[in-house]
Amino acid sequence: MTNHPPEPFRIKMVEPISLIDREEREQALREAGYNVFGLKSNQIFIDLLTDSGTGAMSQEQWAGMMKGDESYAGARSYHRLAAAIDEIFGFDYFVPTHQGRAAENILCAVALQKGQYVPSNMHFDTTEGNIRARGGRPTNLVIQEAFKGADPHPFKGNMDLEKLQDFIKEIGPKQIPFGMITITNNAGGGQPVSMENLRQVASIYHEHEIPFIIDACRFAENAFFIKLREEGYEDKSPLEIAREIFSLADGATMSAKKDALVNIGGFLALNDKKLYQRVSNELILREGFITYGGLAGRDLDAIAIGLREGLNEEYLMYRLKQTAYLAGELKSAGIPILEPPGGHAVYIDAGKLLPHIPQPKFPGQALVAALYIEGGVRGVELGSVAFAHPDPDTGEMVYPEMELVRLAIPRRSYTQSHLDYVVDVFKKVAQGKKEISGFKITYQPELMRHFTAQFKPLP
Ligand SMILES: Cc1ncc(COP(=O)(O)O)c(C=O)c1O
Repeated sequence: MTNHPPEPFRIKMVEPISLIDREEREQALREAGYNVFGLKSNQIFIDLLTDSGTGAMSQEQWAGMMKGDESYAGARSYHRLAAAIDEIFGFDYFVPTHQGRAAENILCAVALQKGQYVPSNMHFDTTEGNIRARGGRPTNLVIQEAFKGADPHPFKGNMDLEKLQDFIKEIGPKQIPFGMITITNNAGGGQPVSMENLRQVASIYHEHEIPFIIDACRFAENAFFIKLREEGYEDKSPLEIAREIFSLADGATMSAKKDALVNIGGFLALNDKKLYQRVSNELILREGFITYGGLAGRDLDAIAIGLREGLNEEYLMYRLKQTAYLAGELKSAGIPILEPPGGHAVYIDAGKLLPHIPQPKFPGQALVAALYIEGGVRGVELGSVAFAHPDPDTGEMVYPEMELVRLAIPRRSYTQSHLDYVVDVFKKVAQGKKEISGFKITYQPELMRHFTAQFKPLP
């Protein structure tokens, strides 16, 4: 295997993309209130906003969709998905949901009381938002190395076990309805969690009778990192590793838009029958009947096939090496990135790249805007716009430890020359970085403001 394995597929259908000129990009961004979520996709050349639901399905998945059974209840598609989930995850029960956040919402609706805490290594924004929306308190307890951009720790998504023990002692297990961990840790750089850490986390939660729920969006990438980096796993298949991971937990929330290689879908899987029954009632109220959960039968078939394809070793090797390639090229160009690179994305340390812009002026947002203007590249801010929030006790603003910009790579969609183009755009942005200024927020909703906030450039 070369260091940059070629794409293990060839292209059978194409979607044209083109670069509009600079003046048009400037106008488009102005009209979008300087929030790249407000751009039209035809105004973007290379779209690295997210790897969620943006990948290309395989010929098997498209063929599988033709077999979709649209029966309201008990569809064959549901049973095919149930078989795939049983094979990989092994939980006793599951419900399909329209995407990951719907699984989070339903879990929080039935299991979380106001004022309770939910620890994790790091919650993703939708998980954090769903916990806060129910009056809960999401708590991040990732290891300190996660905040050291250049630290080469192989499992920077690991939970700090001592902090977790102390936290449970301080809060009391009764105030913790469930504990989580995110694999890989998206909010902290797409960094993996080791099997050893997962084992210890499970044991701590279980010692205190706290159910352990895994945010499993990128479980296949995490499994492959374990194979590549953790002793004793080099000869195991990603499927075997995945099964071992989930055998440690009591349930999982899943956005199938990531490692199940589909454009829409998710599920919530559980072992507790009583919880599953309450979840089912909530699902019927909010999403749909328990055998389709807001999805079409054909979507369930695409997920069933994608879950298995997402664990293919050749695919996973290409996937992780593609991300590492972009990271390596950016690093060689002098761009500060989080190291080692994660699975699905390269994270740029915008605080370091633009040290003249302080956190309240949103250096990440400034970098995202500059990338779009320079080359029509869309990334996403995962810094103070996404994560700064008022402390619920003091009202004071709490800023995140890092100002990140994420370049998420859609699965099976862009080639190496697209990534080379992105590196060129970065080089130009870095050359003119002193001219880049910060932003002020002119509108923001109460929760998850980064999706719809509006900005004004500062002089
Ligand atoms: C770690 C993590 N959890 C949950 C979600 C939410 O999933 P969805 O976008 O399908 O609602 C995401 C989406 O990006 C994620 O990355």
